Amino acid sequence: MLERKGRMQIVFLCSEFEGLLKTGGLADATRGLAQALQAKGHKVIVLMPRYGALYNKALLDDWQSVYVELGNQRYGCAVRHLVSDGIAIALIEHHDFFARARPYDDGEHPYHDNALRFAFFCKAALYYLSENGIEPDVIHGHDWQSAAGALYLKQMQQQGLLLQSRFVLTIHNAAYQQGIARHDLAMLGISTSDCPADVPLSLLSLGVAHCSSFNTVSQGYRQELLSEPAANGLSSLYQARQQHFSGIVNGCDYGRWDPQTDKSLVANYHSADLTGKGLCKSELRRQMGLADSKVPLFVSVSRVTGQKGFDYLIPALSHWLASSSAQVVMMGTGEQKYIQPLKTLQQQYPLQYRFIEGFDEDFSHQLEAAGDFFLMPSLFEPCGLNQIYSLRYGTVPIVRATGGLKDTVLALPARGATGISFTEPDVEALLGALQQAEALYQNKAKYQKVQQRGMQQYFGWGEAAEQYLKMYQQAT
Ligand code: ADP
Ligand code: GLC
Repeated sequence: MLERKGRMQIVFLCSEFEGLLKTGGLADATRGLAQALQAKGHKVIVLMPRYGALYNKALLDDWQSVYVELGNQRYGCAVRHLVSDGIAIALIEHHDFFARARPYDDGEHPYHDNALRFAFFCKAALYYLSENGIEPDVIHGHDWQSAAGALYLKQMQQQGLLLQSRFVLTIHNAAYQQGIARHDLAMLGISTSDCPADVPLSLLSLGVAHCSSFNTVSQGYRQELLSEPAANGLSSLYQARQQHFSGIVNGCDYGRWDPQTDKSLVANYHSADLTGKGLCKSELRRQMGLADSKVPLFVSVSRVTGQKGFDYLIPALSHWLASSSAQVVMMGTGEQKYIQPLKTLQQQYPLQYRFIEGFDEDFSHQLEAAGDFFLMPSLFEPCGLNQIYSLRYGTVPIVRATGGLKDTVLALPARGATGISFTEPDVEALLGALQQAEALYQNKAKYQKVQQRGMQQYFGWGEAAEQYLKMYQQAT
């Protein structure tokens, strides 16, 4: 074990970063952690692809070209620089691979060349570091897009390069692995002996097999990944490396997610005075054309995918809204097979239900502030950030007891409860939770206690960063 002490140099390889590119919580997490590490005096450099959406970002004047050997090919790319909220960012620019409107798919199907694109990203990032004489203590990859870096670092070290660096990997979502076809191995510069035995071959499985150590974003999800079906075929690999596998819960960037200072809201508030929350609720209802009545308001902001529980959420809402007068406002983008029925719900229940297809950062804050309850009934959830934001905004989360949701929300009837949860991933169990929420809302004193306790919870990135630093220090 190399004990690293003092100020560390840490390079993030990641595909998303809040303020630059975001499709979900990965972006919140990379930025929150990078800032917390820098606040502790460590130096972070973030390397990410220059996606089409980043071509309008102002850049620093300096840039450089880098040549990348991958398989039998030699590719050229440019590396551009900018600083985002005090964090140095290096963007790997390769027009054919990355200058696409969407990062991973064309809106319907994943791009056919994703394995090559992200293998290239990792290799280019490592060449860039090596050519600039940057030998970070830690290269920290995030998710499948950066996982191949673990193997490529080993290969470069065999050539005497980047010898001081160790590769650690964070799995934000183990469901996305990016499979690799065997006949593509040569093109990616990977030999059969590099491939972990008896598990599906993917960028993620390569990363887990070759990194120094790895973690996922809650203890609960770590435990789930040690068996199937949660591990999506990789449980034997996670088990084999479990000594090097930890669980670290994400933090919340309270600089951005605090109802007392949030600039997106019509009125600010805090736990001792919730008048502003009432104003936020009225404003949202006005915008949505919903009556300003005494019924509870349920909100959600979510990627619209199977992960988020839409298979049972949609039938449960359909059933529940027929008998309840509660209001529901949801925002999201994702799979049409769910979006169409959500739009139908709005036609069926025009006085109670709104679905906004899209994603808007300010509006996501406004929904968090306006709601009485936040719906997060995920089928699985590595950590989840929206329930943590909801706690701070006094919007009682309704979660399924899984992964990070179970770790961050203490459900009624437990003493000190901060939310409501259900266990079985089915319509009946979710309906039970919705009814429990309505009953809780009728009991104002009890509702307020749960709400207040939620608002007092603290999930700081500073604490999470300490645990990452320990993982970095112990990386062998
Ligand atoms: P996940 O990362 O699985 O989507 P999290 O709860 O960890 O779930 O993080 C969600 C983050 O992504 C929040 O900041 C939320 O506002 C944002 N978000 C939710 N839906 C979308 C979307 N369709 N596009 C971009 N960001 C989204
Ligand atoms: C993934 C997970 C989510 C987690 C986020 C950030 O998108 O689905 O649960 O909070 O990454 O780690």
